[in-house]
Amino acid sequence: MKTYGKIIGVGSYLPEKVITNDDISKIVDTSDEWIKSRTGICERRLADEKTSTSMLALNAAKAAISDAKIDPKKIDLIIVATCTPDMQFPSTACILQSKLGLNNIPCFDISAACSGFNYAITVANSFIISKQAKTILVVGADTLAKYLDWTDRGTCILFGDGAGAVVMEAANDGSGVLASVLGAEGSGGHLLTFRGGGSIGPMNRVLIDEKEYCIKMKGSEVFKFAVRVLEDGTRLVLKKAKLKIPDINLLIPHQANIRIIDHAIKKLGLSKENVYVNLQKYGNTSAASIPIAIFEAKQEGRIKSGDIVVIVGFGAGLTYGANLIKF
Ligand code: ACO
Repeated sequence: MKTYGKIIGVGSYLPEKVITNDDISKIVDTSDEWIKSRTGICERRLADEKTSTSMLALNAAKAAISDAKIDPKKIDLIIVATCTPDMQFPSTACILQSKLGLNNIPCFDISAACSGFNYAITVANSFIISKQAKTILVVGADTLAKYLDWTDRGTCILFGDGAGAVVMEAANDGSGVLASVLGAEGSGGHLLTFRGGGSIGPMNRVLIDEKEYCIKMKGSEVFKFAVRVLEDGTRLVLKKAKLKIPDINLLIPHQANIRIIDHAIKKLGLSKENVYVNLQKYGNTSAASIPIAIFEAKQEGRIKSGDIVVIVGFGAGLTYGANLIKF
């Protein structure tokens, strides 16, 4: 049988601090009722000032390694999906490697915003299929709440911080990541931006005053893109795997907005029982949202051995990605 990357361990980590919708309604002109009905989000977690992305990643990674019951020294590649790295360089993957006490293995970050985990899983699977690695730690970790404009009610209600991780290992028992689809529409990049800090504008007063160190988003346009690619990504990855909608045991979409998910699953003809949602607890944790959801779905017994799970997401770029995984 062909070799694919199989998920043999999963972990997640959320900061302790909870911010409810009522808390946010004391900062901007909004309400619990509006946020719940327009997004499905009830609360989110925020990392404190001292907590970096790599610290969240470390906790999730340790949990995934422990779940996989492997000697961490078996890991021969680390990939971290993040758009909020600890710093420009070294990469968050290298920082994580050092924190894990691992040496002399390749480590790199992937920047695809909220699609980052899907991109990272596809890349990891390719390393396994091409026999360049056997045991890979893949982490999705973000601290986007550190970059919110707390006067912009269109964005500050949406995001939270967190991390999720998986250990992938080469397997030839018919399980693993059986098909992947990645895409990007760079022409839509201006719809969702975080410009500050890049070479387009290294730190300066104008950028700070113009709030370019914060997320800016044209929400309703991103919404339309999201619904379209959640549907298209799912259909394309099923086609690649020669499977059909009823073959999906569980769909795990990027956890951004319940209305985006509801629109997409209606178009796909999927019933809610086959879709995993936990965004009410954490909001949009960017690259962490899907691995956190995989972890919780497994804990709740919603993913069993042999199940077909599709993970599908979208993000800044604009990017999208989907992977079909047999557990
Ligand atoms: N509270 C109260 N009213 C609000 C709020 C709020 N928090 N936010 C917007 N409004 C108001 C607007 O001002 C507007 O009022 P008006 O009609 O008087 O002008 C009205 O509500 C409707 O605004 P819309 O922006 O059309 O509201 P919409 O239903 O589209 O919801 C939202 C906004 C929640 C941001 C939605 O567009 C969305 O979720 N978009 C997708 C965002 C997303 O998923 N982004 C993440 C991408 S992943 C990544 O890579 C980071």
